[in-house]
Amino acid sequence: MNFTRSDFPDGFLFGTATSAYQIEGHSFGGAGSTHWDTFAATPGNVVRAEHGQIACDHYHRWEEDLDLIKNAGFDAYRFSTSWARVMPDGVTPNPEGLDFYDRLTDGMLDRGLKPCATLYHWEMPSALADRGGWTNPDVAKWFGDFTHCIMDRIGDRMHSVAPINEPWCVGWLSHFLGAHAPGLRDIRATARAMHHILLAHGTAIQTMRALGMSNLGGVFNFEWSMPADDSTAAKAAADLYDGYYNRFFIDGVFKGRYPDAVLDGFGQHLPSGWENDFATIQSPLDWVGLNYYTRKLMAPTSGAWPAHAEAEGPLPKTQMGWEIYPDGLYEFLMRTKNEYTGDLTLFITENGMANADVLANGAVDDPERIAFLNAHFEAVRRAIADGAPVDGFFVWSLMDNYEWALGYEKRFGLVHVDFDTLQRTPKASYHALKSALTPRP
Ligand code: NOJ
Repeated sequence: MNFTRSDFPDGFLFGTATSAYQIEGHSFGGAGSTHWDTFAATPGNVVRAEHGQIACDHYHRWEEDLDLIKNAGFDAYRFSTSWARVMPDGVTPNPEGLDFYDRLTDGMLDRGLKPCATLYHWEMPSALADRGGWTNPDVAKWFGDFTHCIMDRIGDRMHSVAPINEPWCVGWLSHFLGAHAPGLRDIRATARAMHHILLAHGTAIQTMRALGMSNLGGVFNFEWSMPADDSTAAKAAADLYDGYYNRFFIDGVFKGRYPDAVLDGFGQHLPSGWENDFATIQSPLDWVGLNYYTRKLMAPTSGAWPAHAEAEGPLPKTQMGWEIYPDGLYEFLMRTKNEYTGDLTLFITENGMANADVLANGAVDDPERIAFLNAHFEAVRRAIADGAPVDGFFVWSLMDNYEWALGYEKRFGLVHVDFDTLQRTPKASYHALKSALTPRP
């Protein structure tokens, strides 16, 4: 890497991230069915109909995986708690599931790693999905009960907690674009889900405050939105994308309102009385996490709202087909501080790249990932120099894993996983980060 620890402020947290369904192996430990299991079992939704039943078998190999995190020199581990593992039917606690997260937490502490939990990283218990999942107004209460159940057990040892990973993906991607579970393409479901996600977020924050917990945050995903050309129509397309992708959720939490351009499109579908929920939605946070991967060039199209589409961009792309645009990370850090959070601590809760990595002679050479991470760490340093209070960076991901609708082919890991043998092999990027993070004697 072209940086070391000393290039960042004292106490800056270097971490790596994963999520439960993507690595654990959902068939183990008495976990209940989730909407991702049924989404994946429905033809056409997921590449090769791949699912998370075994994934990386982290449920059994967690000690080896925590050792990998520790041995790289990371300070912190961002993991998630599976609702359906903790409560298989969405409401009844599963002692085996609670025991698993208890062991995992102690395993982190034993290795000197700070546990940074995300309560929901996308797998809704099927029993609750059957009752409408995120579209049901009761979801905030269900989620509050889950939050209480899991945090009553492990909350005393968490370094930090965020309720919901990437609200845009949980809301829009899953209910409007149909690309993730539950696979809906329904504007009314989308508006309701997006609002209920924020209500559940605020409810979880209040639940954890009542448990006496601190260092609670929110994790938002951002894509830098730009017009595909100089036209007024392309500019409007980019602004609208910025509105429902980047601004909707953080506006709700920090400004107590939603962007006008988004309300024009789906305001009539929001649940009645939504304006009265901002007191809960705006429950104060201790930090904000940004997940950042790419930018989007937007152009107008004909047809129903939002009547726009992504245009192909000219920049080099990752295995996901996403343009590499580190400046967007700098821009978002500055914008978040200047327009929303002021002095509140910021984290990069996810950044990384998928690459067509190949295991050869027991090693994986991934110079593309090293260059990608260098450029994004550099963008963070620039933002810090310009006054953004950034306190940490979590690389996505510790290891290759289940990339949702794209199955196991897209490799985001610092550690290669052979999905036949489940053998882990640290890649060159892992070794490079290790030398950057390990203090020299
Ligand atoms: C965002 C999500 O939080 C994570 O689950 C996913 O694997 C990465 N981005 C890469 O797409």
